[in-house]
Amino acid sequence: MSAVIVAIDGPSGTGKSSTSKAVASELGLSYLDTGAQYRAITWWMLTNGVPVDDASAVAAAAARPVIDSGTDPAAPTIAVDGTDASGPIRTQEVTAAVSQVSAVPEVRTRITALQRSIAAGAAGGIVVEGRDIGTTVLPGADIKIFLTASPEARASRRSGELKGKDAAGLSATQEALIKRDAADSGRKTSPLKKADDAVEVDTTQLTLEQVVECVVTLVGKAAAAKAEAKAGQISK
Ligand code: DC
Repeated sequence: MSAVIVAIDGPSGTGKSSTSKAVASELGLSYLDTGAQYRAITWWMLTNGVPVDDASAVAAAAARPVIDSGTDPAAPTIAVDGTDASGPIRTQEVTAAVSQVSAVPEVRTRITALQRSIAAGAAGGIVVEGRDIGTTVLPGADIKIFLTASPEARASRRSGELKGKDAAGLSATQEALIKRDAADSGRKTSPLKKADDAVEVDTTQLTLEQVVECVVTLVGKAAAAKAEAKAGQISK
């Protein structure tokens, strides 16, 4: 597989992370979870007493945390100022604040630059997953995929442990998820959006294996087209 850049976007609960990691592992590509970076900066704001509802305070602090992402799909890592943040970034507190923090333009400029430099440094190719990868971060990606699923499927995937046991918990998850997607889609700076040239894959009725197979096929075709275009240029 040549060094392809793969952009995978979509809302929460579409199987984006599991798919992106599996595709990267299968094809020997690096992997970047951009949501983890927005969660990491949000966690830093919360632990350093920055009021997350004050956009100018968040903007003023946006350059301070040092965020490090490990891009091995078998063991991705995220560290803030040298401390492993993979546990704390998944707390309810961070999840509730991340849309607000990630809507601040100074935060996006900072994190977007970081993402572009990681992608440029991935010599063997990379799968980058997020919300604005195809539209803003890597508009020249070799293949762009936009994953979707019904709100019910997304909520039940997110709260797999509640499934069938706690209907109230499921509906609360669905409500929180819809609220976060609305905030992520409605923000002014690089909202969650399908790029015009992205391939949309509705995962509602598909198993993870089926989604992975579909994406691997799409990436394989894009890699072949890229190799062919390159060969054409060389022979000219
Ligand atoms: O993928 P996730 O749920 O871990 O992402 C957390 C939040 O980060 C999401 O609600 C919006 C934000 N995000 C973003 O604004 N842009 C991205 N490329 C990725 C995530």
